[in-house]
Amino acid sequence: MVVVGNQWGDEGKGKVVDWLTEQAQGVVRFQGGHNAGHTLVIGGQKTALQLIPSGAMRADVACYIGNGVVVDPEHLMAEIGRLEAAGVELRARLRISEACPLVLPSHVALDLAREASRETRGLGRIGTTGKGIGPAYEDKVARRAVRLQDLKHPRRLADKLRETLDWHNFALREYLHVAPVEFEPTYQRLLQLAEPIAPLLADVGHCLQRCRERGERLLFEGAQGTLLDVDHGTYPYVTSSNCVAGNAAAGAGIGPRAIDYVLGITKAYTTRVGSGPFPSELPIDQPGSVGHHLHTVGQERGTVTGRARRCGWIDTAALKRANLINSTSGQCITKLDVLDGLPEILLCTGYRLDGRDIDILPLDADDIARCQPHYERMPGWKETTAGLTRWEQLPREARAYLERVAELSGTPISMVSTGPDREHTIVLQHPFGD
Ligand code: IMP
Repeated sequence: MVVVGNQWGDEGKGKVVDWLTEQAQGVVRFQGGHNAGHTLVIGGQKTALQLIPSGAMRADVACYIGNGVVVDPEHLMAEIGRLEAAGVELRARLRISEACPLVLPSHVALDLAREASRETRGLGRIGTTGKGIGPAYEDKVARRAVRLQDLKHPRRLADKLRETLDWHNFALREYLHVAPVEFEPTYQRLLQLAEPIAPLLADVGHCLQRCRERGERLLFEGAQGTLLDVDHGTYPYVTSSNCVAGNAAAGAGIGPRAIDYVLGITKAYTTRVGSGPFPSELPIDQPGSVGHHLHTVGQERGTVTGRARRCGWIDTAALKRANLINSTSGQCITKLDVLDGLPEILLCTGYRLDGRDIDILPLDADDIARCQPHYERMPGWKETTAGLTRWEQLPREARAYLERVAELSGTPISMVSTGPDREHTIVLQHPFGD
């Protein structure tokens, strides 16, 4: 099964993946890097994961990082160390593709300097997480990435690192006018990190094939969201990987026919971090306003960067696009309880663009920025939905809202998440079929 975000990320995928892994033997990351941030709440205890798959919190679940993920080795070991300090033993059940490209300190320097330079040149920031993700993917596509497998060969590592750093340092010094990254300390640090990382490296595609032969259930965990996809999102205000369900195959080393079910995670409203168009956006800073309610009640602040998330009504025309690209089998609606108490709920069902009415999100970010949203209004509910576990317990208005979201976005609802804890979950159709 593949789990992907249906909006601009932060839909609450981590909790759903953790819940579903009760029924799975392995969890696989296939794209992104430590720009992702998943907060899990288990028995009231909060854990934040960035690079490690959300299955990590279950001791009997294997964790895989596929070739499509970019890995910052410094961050990887720090995250493993944090989990181990909290009593989560991971190394024996974590396998990382040796084909993963590395995120190097020079990628971080390039990411930060480019954002600053865009601002100086009046282009405006993309609003990246500043983790070096974009420059690392550039190197992968340009065939000059240093990969995890290079850590096993010190001489080859030195040759590749020198060539890559030469290129980066030229850009840093001559074009971006910031300090270069020195070869020797970077190389020495990679050699140190190679030692604990080497035993974790594997041919992940082949491992997954063997899992399938044993009849195991695997869960592919998307990071970010469909509208941040480098091809299908609001380009250039996107991340640098394919976040859509189809990339679970290429990014992990399996075939597309191995995917049986695609679960799209859809927040009951919309949020976005970073720049870029957002048609149903509401102002968040006026106390008493709906935007302020979503921001504060939903605690909409980035897990990785701490930045305030932009908030707005649900956009079913954007969801229609996401469900189409992902061939979503079912949607899981998250954070429904954040809408509790609102007298009225609006759904963006389409837009007016240059004198025409359209009912699906356009492809061009400039077109999206000109879209005037069309809204449908539905009554809200006074009761609390927090922590409910059965569909019949939901207020009538909440059920009507969810049914309308399913209808407008073109995909049935299979689950509803009513709170951060594992137990706060309503199942209509179990994605694993039982
Ligand atoms: P990058 O992935 O750091 O290059 O950032 C590119 C865009 O993706 C920015 O708008 C980020 O805010 C956004 N982004 C990256 N990772 C996440 C995430 O996990 N959740 C939400 N937005 C993200």
